[in-house]
Amino acid sequence: MGDRIPLAIRGMGSALPDRVMTNDDFARILDTSDEWIRTRTGIRERRFANDDEDSLTLATTAATRAIEDAGLTPADIDLIVFATSTPAYPLPATACFLQHALGCRHIPAFDISAACAGFVYAFVIGAGLTHIGGYSHALVVGSEKMSAVTDFQDRATCVILADGAGAAIIGPPDNELSGLYEHMLGADGSGAELIIVPAGGSAKPATAKTVEERQHYMKMRGREVYKFAVTKMQEILIETTRRAGLRVEDLAYVVPHQSNLRIIESAAQKMGLPMDKIAVNIDRYGNTSAASIPMALEEAWRAGKVKAGDWVLMAGFGAGLTWGSALIRL
Ligand SMILES: CC(C)(COP(=O)(O)OP(=O)(O)OC[C@H]1O[C@@H](n2cnc3c(N)ncnc32)[C@H](O)[C@@H]1OP(=O)(O)O)[C@@H](O)C(=O)NCCC(=O)NCCS
Repeated sequence: MGDRIPLAIRGMGSALPDRVMTNDDFARILDTSDEWIRTRTGIRERRFANDDEDSLTLATTAATRAIEDAGLTPADIDLIVFATSTPAYPLPATACFLQHALGCRHIPAFDISAACAGFVYAFVIGAGLTHIGGYSHALVVGSEKMSAVTDFQDRATCVILADGAGAAIIGPPDNELSGLYEHMLGADGSGAELIIVPAGGSAKPATAKTVEERQHYMKMRGREVYKFAVTKMQEILIETTRRAGLRVEDLAYVVPHQSNLRIIESAAQKMGLPMDKIAVNIDRYGNTSAASIPMALEEAWRAGKVKAGDWVLMAGFGAGLTWGSALIRL
């Protein structure tokens, strides 16, 4: 087992747009069906932000709730790490807008771009910075408006992506056990083009032609991503547990990125983990990228599925290709 980074999750919060889009709603505008979407992905419905909502407004709500949940005020936050692939603006970091919107002090605030592994990356970075000192309470956020980069003419991607936000406050532990015990972060850039928004960056700035060619929307080679995801999810869950010297039975709860129910089920089966010990909310919220893990963790926390002293393993993977896991003891 690696060295424990002493910490506790002092509070959590989420934000979901009100607008619900069911599979049948999609079947009315696209050549698809509730049956196809449910059996291939496990999704029944998802939330889409309205025009006046974005990754910043969703994050502001989630973060406000997390700060309140922790019994803190924005003035108590020492650091903001914001995971998103759909920043409110290309420049500057959405974290800076969030700092101002919350009324925090002039603390460090920056974005992490690690797609669906983003929250785990942000959590490990937040934990590491609290460990080196000077940052007592870190606000770690995953927030996405995936609908802003979704091509609603591409039936293979638009039915899986969704919007939402989740936030956690990392703070000092109040016992000798809670902390971050193991983590695995990685990336394989040879797969960088498997999930990509081709235009809008410095390689291909926005022009009328790029807009006309729909190049500002996310393109995904779904089948190849699926193969990577199934293998990598199992690998990091099993390897992180092994490195910590734990048995699968020791884990109270596993919180995987919600990309596809089949990927989650396959990981649970490979680990020998019963499905009631693995978080699933993709049926209701779809794939919210960096927001999916904190939203699922908060749900488990509120439902009493995880409690002080429990081992909880988070794991995500996504565009980049990136992956990350974090084993914590609550
Ligand atoms: C996206 C995903 C659900 C598609 O499922 P799939 O079984 O791989 O489907 P394919 O893309 O191979 O397409 C199979 C067929 O279904 C069709 N299809 C795709 N989307 C469809 C939809 N929404 N409704 C109906 N048919 C659809 C395709 O056109 C194709 O038809 P064809 O055989 O006539 O050409 C799946 O690839 C997946 O989950 N990939 C990983 C996604 C992921 O984890 N991404 C995010 C990383 S964070």
